Amino acid sequence: MLDLRLSLTYALALVAGTLAVPSQKLDTRQAPWKSTVISTLAEPWAFAFLPDNRVIVNERKGNMRLVDPATGTKTTITGVPTVAYSGQGGLHDIALHPNYTENSIVYISYAESGSGGAGGAVARAKLTLTANGGSLSGLEVIWRHSQRASGGLQFALRLLFGPDGALWISSGEINQMTPAQSMTGNLGKMIKLYDNGTAFAGNPFASQGAIQSQIWTLGHRNPLGIDWDAQGRLWEVEMGPMGGDELNLIEKGANYGWPLVCEGKHYNGTTIPAHSTRPNFAAPKVAWVPVISPAGLIIYKGDLFSSWKGNAIITGLSSQSIVRVTITGNTAKEAQRVSMGKRMRGIREAKDGAIWVIEDGANGRLLKLTPN
Ligand SMILES: *[C@@H]1O[C@H](CO)[C@@H](O)[C@H](O)[C@H]1NC(C)=O
Ligand SMILES: *[C@@H]1O[C@H](CO)[C@@H](O)[C@H](O)[C@H]1NC(C)=O
Ligand SMILES: *[C@@H]1O[C@H](CO)[C@@H](O)[C@H](O)[C@H]1NC(C)=O
Repeated sequence: MLDLRLSLTYALALVAGTLAVPSQKLDTRQAPWKSTVISTLAEPWAFAFLPDNRVIVNERKGNMRLVDPATGTKTTITGVPTVAYSGQGGLHDIALHPNYTENSIVYISYAESGSGGAGGAVARAKLTLTANGGSLSGLEVIWRHSQRASGGLQFALRLLFGPDGALWISSGEINQMTPAQSMTGNLGKMIKLYDNGTAFAGNPFASQGAIQSQIWTLGHRNPLGIDWDAQGRLWEVEMGPMGGDELNLIEKGANYGWPLVCEGKHYNGTTIPAHSTRPNFAAPKVAWVPVISPAGLIIYKGDLFSSWKGNAIITGLSSQSIVRVTITGNTAKEAQRVSMGKRMRGIREAKDGAIWVIEDGANGRLLKLTPN
C-alpha cells in the first residue's frame, strides 16, 4: 500500500518532469516506515546489537557508548585505544565475535596515527558490562593497514563475520589509489582472516606471500558496507570519486578495477575508463552517477518488511537517503530511494526484522524503523 503511494509519487513526478533527482523529490512523511528515535550521539560511525538488545554505538572521536533502548540511557564503555580523529578517520566499526555469548570478545576498527600519517587497525578485546556501562580489556591489535598516509581519508574498515567463522575487513585505500592494485600491500582489498588475525586457509593469493595471503579481492576504493545474502554471497558497497559509487558482488580472487576503471571521474574532472573497456575487471552490479555516497549496507533477511526480503538496503551520506536495491540472480537494480533529510551513516537489521539506522554528524540519531 505504502509502496504504491511512493510509486504514485514517482508517476506524478514523471508527468511533472521533475524526476531528474527522484530521491530529493520524495517526502519523508511518505516513507514506508515509522521512525522511532532511540538515542542521539556525537558523530556515530557504527553500532552493534548485544544479545540482551542493548546497542553499542561507536562515536568517531573514540567514545564507545552503550545504549539501552528500553530506558533510553546512554553510558560509556572504557578502554578504547587512542584513535586518529582526523579527516574521515577515528573510531570506526564494532562487531561481536560469533561466540560472543561464551567469550565476550568484540572487535573494533579505527584509524591510528604513526610515522607517515594514519592507517587503519583492527583490534579485539574482552567486553565487561557493568551497571553503568562497561570496559574493554586485553586489547590486542590483530590487523593493520600495511601503509599509512596523511589526509585521513578512505579507511573504510567495515567488520563482518562470515558463515564459516571468518572475520572480513573491508580495507579502504586511504586515498592512495594505485595501492588498491598492488599485491604487496593490503590497501583497497577485501581481507579474510581467522578470528585471531591469521590469514584464512584457502584464500586465493596465499601462495604469493604473507600479506597476499590475507587478500580475497582487490581494486577497491572506499568499501563502507558489506553483508551476506541468504545464499551466502557477499555484497559490498563502495564510494567512487566524482560519480561511480558501486554495489559489487564479491567473488573470490576478483579485481574490481580501482583506480584503472571506474564509472566516475577524478575530482579534477579527468575521466577514468569505464569498466566496459576492461572486461577482465569485475564490473559493479549497480553504479551511481551522480553518487549516493553509500556508507552502510544490509541484505534484508527479516519478515517485518516482508516484500524487501533479499533486497540490499543502503544508507547514503551525500544523498541523505536510504536506497533499496532489488537483487535478481546476479543482477541488481535500484528500486526505491527515501529521502531522510540527513546524512545517513550506518544500518543494521535487528533480530525482529526492524531496520535500525544512524545519522552522521554532531547530533546523529539512532533510529528504529518499523513498518507503518
Ligand atoms: C565458536 O564455537 C564453536 C563451538 O565451540 C566452534 O566450533 C567455532 O569454531 C567457534 N567459532 C569461532 C569463530 O571461533
Ligand atoms: C589462528 O587461528 C587458526 C584457526 O583456528 C589457527 O589455525 C592458527 O594457528 C591461529 N594462529 C595463531 C597465531 O594462534
Ligand atoms: C587529476 O587527478 C588524478 C587523480 O588524482 C591525477 O592522476 C591526474 O594527474 C590529475 N589530472 C590533472 C590534469 O591534474
